[in-house]
Amino acid sequence: MKEIQSIVSINEGKTDVLVFKNKESKKGPGSKDKVPFYNPSMELNRDLSVLVCQWLINNSNKPVRILDGLAASGIRGVRFTRELDGNFDVTINDWNQEAYILIEKNIEKLKLKNTIALNCNLNSLLSENNFNYIDIDPFGSPVYFIDSAMRSIYNNGIIACTATDTATLCGAYPKVCLRRYGAVPFHSIVMKEIGLRILLGFICRAAGIYNKGIKPLICYSNDHYFRIYVQITNGTTKANDSMKKYSAIKSNELIGTQTTKKDIGPMWIGALQDKRVIQELRTILFEKQIKTKNKSWILLDLLEEEADAPNFFYTTDGLASDLKKSPPKKETVFEKLKNNGYNVFRTHFSPTGFKTNSPITEIKSVF
Ligand SMILES: C[S@@+](CC[C@H](N)C(=O)[O-])C[C@H]1O[C@@H](n2cnc3c(N)ncnc32)[C@H](O)[C@@H]1O
Repeated sequence: MKEIQSIVSINEGKTDVLVFKNKESKKGPGSKDKVPFYNPSMELNRDLSVLVCQWLINNSNKPVRILDGLAASGIRGVRFTRELDGNFDVTINDWNQEAYILIEKNIEKLKLKNTIALNCNLNSLLSENNFNYIDIDPFGSPVYFIDSAMRSIYNNGIIACTATDTATLCGAYPKVCLRRYGAVPFHSIVMKEIGLRILLGFICRAAGIYNKGIKPLICYSNDHYFRIYVQITNGTTKANDSMKKYSAIKSNELIGTQTTKKDIGPMWIGALQDKRVIQELRTILFEKQIKTKNKSWILLDLLEEEADAPNFFYTTDGLASDLKKSPPKKETVFEKLKNNGYNVFRTHFSPTGFKTNSPITEIKSVF
């Protein structure tokens, strides 16, 4: 039986938007068989995309063509038009007929200029058009759209995507991960960082096919999803440089106490964040009307700190359990390692996590 879709007006940023509200559904927002309803838990995800688009416009000397490719109600796209300043246009697309009608309604109600609604298969749309910013926000994995996005993106444009298949990327279904991403995941304390890097590795590989290189600007894990913003640049040198950061690793390189040597990946082993971009995003955040301002600020602060850190992290509780000791305070570990001359960084992947250039033997002695 078809479930009843009610349309309600909600507010995000400085925009009032009509969205589908499905009160009867007991299924999560990821269920595929009906018109997608509004997911308030993704507000921070949409807020940060507004900041990244503003950054792109601020750093472009040409009009910026923005695509909200899997738009549902169109909330992200209409927010772009309402909340961005500068020279840009917005295309809002969804192949679902009811979603498309709602997008049109939103554009009409808000009297949006430079904004069009489309009712296309995203892969066809990307095959025939070029954009400077492509947003891919699917149910599950974005892999089905990456090849066409790579062909569509203009030089130095940004591909932004969400992945909600985190269980697969984090190692709950290794066979699925191998088929979908061509990589072996690792179910462990660092599984989220590995999952994020496997997703980026897939994108790096797809870019390489078209002689393009990737530069992750801001990539993070939050709630039940991963989100990445990657700048794509044309040229074989850029592509080759990126491919140098695409590699498998051994599991015993990750956690000092790990004895098994398992091949993990291949994955992206380069930086996950661009510090300068994050600093500029924080300035933009300060200027925008954003309801998740505090949460976004805290996340950006952690990501900025992590931009200088080495890959992968330890957790105080994980190490304590390996060493059969009770976990010390994170602050104490930080202080002692710093006193011994090492750098220590917090990580957004885990509240008890830390990244450091200290050898594991020194960390153990601190414990
Ligand atoms: C998770 S929802 C998008 C949520 C929306 N971006 C938001 O912030 O509220 C995914 C959407 O993708 C649409 N979709 C799935 N496959 C598609 C395709 N191949 N082409 C166009 N739209 C598609 C679905 O109809 C659905 O509305």
